[in-house]
Amino acid sequence: MEKKKTVFEAVIEHGFTRRDFLKMCTALAATLGLDYTKSDKVVKAMEMGSRVPVVWLSFQDCTGCSESFIRSSQPKTESVLLDMISLEYSEVLSTASGYQVEKSMEDVLKNYKGEYILAVEGSLPENEAFLSIAGKSAKETFLQMAAGAKAIVAYGSCSSWGGIAAAHPNPTGAKSIKSYVSNTPVILIPGCPPIAEVMTGVIAYIITFGKLPELDGFGRPTSFYRHRIHDKCNRRAYFDAGLFVENFDDEGAKQGYCLYKVGCKGPTTYNSCAEMRWNGGVSYPIQSGNPCIGCAEAGFWDNGPFYTRRAEIPGTQTTINPDKVGLSAIGVAAAGIAVHATGTVVKKRETINGVEKNE
Ligand code: SF4
Ligand code: F3S
Repeated sequence: MEKKKTVFEAVIEHGFTRRDFLKMCTALAATLGLDYTKSDKVVKAMEMGSRVPVVWLSFQDCTGCSESFIRSSQPKTESVLLDMISLEYSEVLSTASGYQVEKSMEDVLKNYKGEYILAVEGSLPENEAFLSIAGKSAKETFLQMAAGAKAIVAYGSCSSWGGIAAAHPNPTGAKSIKSYVSNTPVILIPGCPPIAEVMTGVIAYIITFGKLPELDGFGRPTSFYRHRIHDKCNRRAYFDAGLFVENFDDEGAKQGYCLYKVGCKGPTTYNSCAEMRWNGGVSYPIQSGNPCIGCAEAGFWDNGPFYTRRAEIPGTQTTINPDKVGLSAIGVAAAGIAVHATGTVVKKRETINGVEKNE
């Protein structure tokens, strides 16, 4: 078997300079949340470490997760696809097709057993008749590839929790991929779609440190899912001051006030959108005027209706009452403090819409 190229060798082979390589490593270190003095650790790992073989399977999904992934900006998608990973199989991105691409999957099982990362977008139907690819049921393909993987990454809310296919009445019996795995570690990167740089960060972490990143009780990497959107939201000062948008076309909306009363689920949603933002750090839903609809949380399609305010958010034991808070402009400062106090007692949940934490 041909010797696997290191990430550095792949970068140079694709016509980039060492300076480009160092820039890529610095971007990765930033994505990993490492202090810039530690970027040499990433440089060393990328010089020595070989590209990670990745098999990317798509099941019951809309392909939005792949769409999001190919917009990675830090590092850029081409660096990830050409240099950091060796994408052995992807229905969306592989240039090969038919028997040729099916053979790639067999080759991975033969040559990289226990070394490859299995990325999955989309949920699996309980009834195998609902999805088959290349004459095999999706479940059979998944179980075969999962058994030989070093780790499985459930990329997106469908593979993480079941997603839209699992929404009521769930005609296919859609489930998260984790419910079919017991022996291989599963990393959840939920979001509809998820943030591309989180996937990049997870892969970079595995290459750099030779182990999986720290995960929370649900299997999400803590470095990207430790905060609620609400904790880092750019509109948080307005929440604390009791200044809310009442309607999407009112003066509060023009002023950029808090979107809680028009259905924002930021107080109960764990994701990095408010910190990392999207499209190279340009914006994220709340910054663009749209409430967070909780797309990274389990069962979010059934946890609606969207854009409807919640004086009490189910399952969180919070007692935020924006009606009372917004009543007096004079009492804004005092009310803000009171809201802040109640807002921050939103409890960390032990379950997300019925999905149990492992701890
Ligand atoms: Fe931001 Fe939503 Fe929290 Fe308001 S409720 S501060 S818009 S996350
Ligand atoms: Fe989703 Fe909320 Fe982020 S809707 S994209 S988790 S701001």
